[in-house]
Amino acid sequence: MKKVLVATDKPFAKKAVDGIKNVCDKAGYQLILLEKYTDQNDFVKAVADVDAVIIRSDKANKQVIEAGKNLKIVVRAGAGYDNIDLEACTQKGVVAMNTPGQNSNAVAELALGMMVYQARNQFDGKSGTELRDKTIGIHAYGNVGKLVAKIAKGFGMDVYAYDPFVSKTEIEKDGVKALNSVEELYKNCQYISLHIPANDKTKKSINYELLSSMPEGAALVNTARKEVINEDDLLKIMENRKDFTYISDVAPDCATTFTEKFEGRFYFTPKKMGAQTEEANVNAGIAAAEQIVDFLENGNTKFKVN
Ligand code: 3PG
Repeated sequence: MKKVLVATDKPFAKKAVDGIKNVCDKAGYQLILLEKYTDQNDFVKAVADVDAVIIRSDKANKQVIEAGKNLKIVVRAGAGYDNIDLEACTQKGVVAMNTPGQNSNAVAELALGMMVYQARNQFDGKSGTELRDKTIGIHAYGNVGKLVAKIAKGFGMDVYAYDPFVSKTEIEKDGVKALNSVEELYKNCQYISLHIPANDKTKKSINYELLSSMPEGAALVNTARKEVINEDDLLKIMENRKDFTYISDVAPDCATTFTEKFEGRFYFTPKKMGAQTEEANVNAGIAAAEQIVDFLENGNTKFKVN
C-alpha cells in the first residue's frame, strides 16, 4: 500500500484533511499525518518509508529528501516552492510540484483586508483614508496579482501592473494599466502589492531606490516573502519618510526595530496566514493529493517544478 505523508507545521482545516484522506482512500493509499511538529527531525523521521509528501511552508530540505527512501514526489500545497530543495529532489529522482492558483483568493483577500486596516489607522477610531481613487501597483501579475487587481478595482482603485513574464496585452485585457518597468510601477503607485516569488534574482530586490520613488502616503503590502525585501533599505525608508507604511503577512527579521521606532506605521500578521482559510486549505490540499495519485498512477507531471 502506498503511503502519503501530510507534514504541516501549520495544519490544514479539518475539512481539507478529510478531503485529502478521501482522495487517498479512493486510491487505496494510506494517509499519515504529521501536524504541528516542532522539530525538523520529526519530519525527517516521518518521511522514512512514504511514497509521497504534501507540505505547506514546511522545509523539504536535503535531509528530508534523502531520508525518504521510497520518496517519489513532494507536493507543496500552495504557490511558492522556495521551501523545497529542488536540486536534492532532482538528484534523487524525486518530482517536486506546487498547486498554482489553489490558495490565491485567500492571499488576495488578505492583501486588501490589511490595506483597509492600515488605511483606517488599524481601527483605532481616528479618521483614516479610503482606498477609492488611490493608485495601486501590482508587482507580478500571476494568480494572486490578478485577483488583487480585480478586488482593488472593486474598491475603485486606479490599478497598474508590471510583470516581465506577462504581456501588456494580457494585463490590459483585465482593464489594468500595464507599465514598462518596475521603476515606473513604484514611481506611479501609492500602494504596491508584492507578488514576486523568492529566488536568487528577487531576494533583497525591493530596495531603497524603488521604495524612495513611491508617491506621498506610500504603502508597501507584502503577501509574498519577507526575503524579497532589502531590510536595511526598508528601515532606511521608514526613518526617512514618515508617510511610509509597511504591511506584511509575516514579520520581517527587523520587526523589533519596527516596534521600537515606527508605531502605527506597520502591521505584521502574527503567523503567515495569507492562505489560511478553509477554502484555500481544501482547494490546495485536495489538489495536492489528486496530483500525487495522478502522478503515481498515470505519470502525470503537469505541475512539476524541478
Ligand atoms: C504559498 O506560497 O502558497 C503561500 O505563501 C501560502 O503558504 P502556507 O501554505 O504556508 O500558508
